[in-house]
Amino acid sequence: MSVDLVVVGLGYVGLPLLARAVESGVTAAGFDISAEVVSGLNAGRSHVTDVPDSAVAEMTSAGFRATADPAVIAEAETVVLCVPTGLSADGAPDLGAVRCAARTVGERLRRHMLVVLESTSYPGTTEEVVLPILESASGLTAGEDFHLVYSPERIDPGNERFGVRDTPKIVSGITPLCAKFGVAFYGRFIDSLVLSRGTREAEMAKLLENTYRYVNIALVNEVAMFCHRAGIDVWDVLHCAGTKPFGFAPFHPGPGVGGHCIPVDPIYLETMAERTGFSFRTLAASREVNARMPGHVVERAEGLLRERGAPVAGARVLLLGVSYKPDVADTRETPARPVARGLLAAGAQVVYHDPGVVGFEVDGRELPAVSSPEEALRSADLAVLLQDHACYDPVRLVGSRCLLLDTRGELSGENVRHL
Ligand SMILES: NC(=O)c1ccc[n+]([C@@H]2O[C@H](COP(=O)([O-])OP(=O)(O)OC[C@H]3O[C@@H](n4cnc5c(N)ncnc54)[C@H](O)[C@@H]3O)[C@@H](O)[C@H]2O)c1
Repeated sequence: MSVDLVVVGLGYVGLPLLARAVESGVTAAGFDISAEVVSGLNAGRSHVTDVPDSAVAEMTSAGFRATADPAVIAEAETVVLCVPTGLSADGAPDLGAVRCAARTVGERLRRHMLVVLESTSYPGTTEEVVLPILESASGLTAGEDFHLVYSPERIDPGNERFGVRDTPKIVSGITPLCAKFGVAFYGRFIDSLVLSRGTREAEMAKLLENTYRYVNIALVNEVAMFCHRAGIDVWDVLHCAGTKPFGFAPFHPGPGVGGHCIPVDPIYLETMAERTGFSFRTLAASREVNARMPGHVVERAEGLLRERGAPVAGARVLLLGVSYKPDVADTRETPARPVARGLLAAGAQVVYHDPGVVGFEVDGRELPAVSSPEEALRSADLAVLLQDHACYDPVRLVGSRCLLLDTRGELSGENVRHL
């Protein structure tokens, strides 16, 4: 049996891509090394917020199946790698999953197959890391026997405006013909494609997009810390500056950056630049500022409790929203963790509420969860709004009369203090 597409890595990127492709009539299967992910999907359960169970059911009825057996790769016309590119224990880029997946694909590679890397990584990954593994595992030659493409994923979990279909997709190939095959493939289910000059330009474009966010978030975070010191209302500053119809893109301060991409991707860029003897000074400065934010939130919380005559040791602090962005359940690299760590270290009794997060560990210790924020607000000495999930009704939060530290600029009232 053959299928148009096999996606390797069925996570936040791979699953929405599959859902969109299958919806457009592409026949597909998914391969993942996680037995839990595979059995969940085959039982109709999605583990990705943006793909509801109903979409998995539709995919399944269109013939989709997930498997932990790599033999499925040999059935594909096109294989797309959507595996993680995180950091190793010492904080360096970790291409272990990309290398492993490339080997798995290479061992099953057939002539004329199209292989696409979508994982975010530094320029050169497709041609210097993936290509040699595919060639040595298969004995075939890239660009002649099979096609090799890099097309960075741009998914924005929780974004209700833009999805896989209507987010323009950058496509690049190791040869012009490879790129052409890439365009033909993605053109089946994505509205707008952007051809880049080569794979390095496409890899760099993805890193630029996320680094742009990282640096600008650092800028507003530093502005927020300065404004607090100078007695200036940063949220009003942002409101005013944001009215300029050109030349200003608004970013908002917060308790720090989180997720699998924004805090991680600049490290890929910095590491690669260092190898060439280039020092990215804006990245180093941005990392320092963003890393300071959770500590700033803890200091603000301690200061507010002191003002109320309640020492932080023993104070009951409720954290509202511990995921790294609104309306997702993902807690990877979330700044809520260092905030909780800092408050616990100061002796506070910390609990959290988050509608999507079941179980939140801080240094191997499970933080107690509350199911009703309203009830918890009644007994808390301080609540810290870390994530502005849609379920948090400002009127009800403020109406609780609990002292609130709002790190998102969402609330107003006598009992509210802003970051
Ligand atoms: N999550 C996002 O918002 C986002 C957005 C744009 C780009 N990206 C990039 O896309 C890539 C994937 O990210 P993600 O968030 O989907 O990761 P994820 O952790 O949600 O999913 C990755 C999946 O790959 C599987 N996997 C790991 N190694 C494997 C292997 N060798 N073979 C087969 N499966 C394997 C894992 O079990 C997991 O299910 C990363 O490079 C990431 O930086 C992510």
